[in-house]
Amino acid sequence: MNTQTAPLIEVEHVSKIFGSVIALKDISMKVNAGEVMCLLGDNGAGKSTLIKILSGVHQPSEGRYLFEGKEMHFTSPRDALGVGIATVFQDLAMIPLMGISRNFFLGSEPTQGWGPFRRFNVKYADQVTREELAKMGIQVRETTQPVGTLSGGERQSVAIARAVYFGAKVLILDEPTAALGVKEAGVVLRYIAQARSRGLGVIFITHNPHHAYPIGDHFTILNRGSSYGTFAKSEISREELTAMMAGGEALEELSHELAEFARTDEKAAATLAEVAREFGATAEHLHVEQLPPAYEEAERRYDQLPSVDGEGKR
Ligand SMILES: Nc1ncnc2c1ncn2[C@@H]1O[C@H](COP(=O)(O)OP(=O)(O)OP(=O)(O)O)[C@@H](O)[C@H]1O
Ligand SMILES: [Mg+2]
Repeated sequence: MNTQTAPLIEVEHVSKIFGSVIALKDISMKVNAGEVMCLLGDNGAGKSTLIKILSGVHQPSEGRYLFEGKEMHFTSPRDALGVGIATVFQDLAMIPLMGISRNFFLGSEPTQGWGPFRRFNVKYADQVTREELAKMGIQVRETTQPVGTLSGGERQSVAIARAVYFGAKVLILDEPTAALGVKEAGVVLRYIAQARSRGLGVIFITHNPHHAYPIGDHFTILNRGSSYGTFAKSEISREELTAMMAGGEALEELSHELAEFARTDEKAAATLAEVAREFGATAEHLHVEQLPPAYEEAERRYDQLPSVDGEGKR
């Protein structure tokens, strides 16, 4: 495969089974350079499990994992980091009592001198930290300020700037805005946009469609280990995204109800076929996996269907 055009990350039919728990089932998705992919889903949907596979913490039970078109078999997060996949976990792996620049270079400290005189090159670290944060529009007063005294949003920003500086191609953020207020979340979203404009592929995990929608180019929605699919922003409205997040259950019920109904009623079958045509599917295929963004239309039509029997029951 041509690596110029291959997505940065691509997974094909990935499943993950923990003992008897199927955490992920047949997930396919990809992320391109210069694009933000939002991974949405309720608690336990499998979001963290998926990004743990992407970041080398877990190995998939089934399926293929490609990075820049080449199949990968990471055995540790170090392997993933080695090719340029940086993950900012929610607990951030920063040391609260240490200063910003010490944290920035944590694990890759620049040194000066040698032997017993080798020491952390404070001046260089401070300068780079200052510059890199400035590139992201963050002005720090003191690079020695303990990270623990930064706001949640600032801490996330330092983690993002660090990943960018150390040459990440893919930035994975597990719920970076979950614990933040509106303004702080906005700041983090802006840094995500900056990482994108610098050509990184970003995977942004969130519960919150209002955080995802303004920033996302594509949206992958997980529900109990399965994927509803990936939607480009042009294919899905904020309302539809919200409804899919909140109403997965209702949606599934509706589609099965519709299918069942169509089997027993001619007029309904015709309506369903018509709706399905608009979705580019057949009525038999109109299951929740294929449910397209315009499902609200289906719901509307369903509401307008005449009742089947005298009791007004459809
Ligand atoms: N190491 C593990 N062993 C067994 N089951 C696991 C393991 N990790 C995750 N699971 C299960 O897999 C499912 C998906 O979990 P996951 O943490 O990926 O969900 P999530 O979408 O990140 O949820 P949240 O929004 O709450 O963070 C859950 O049912 C969870 O209990
Ligand atoms: Mg999680």
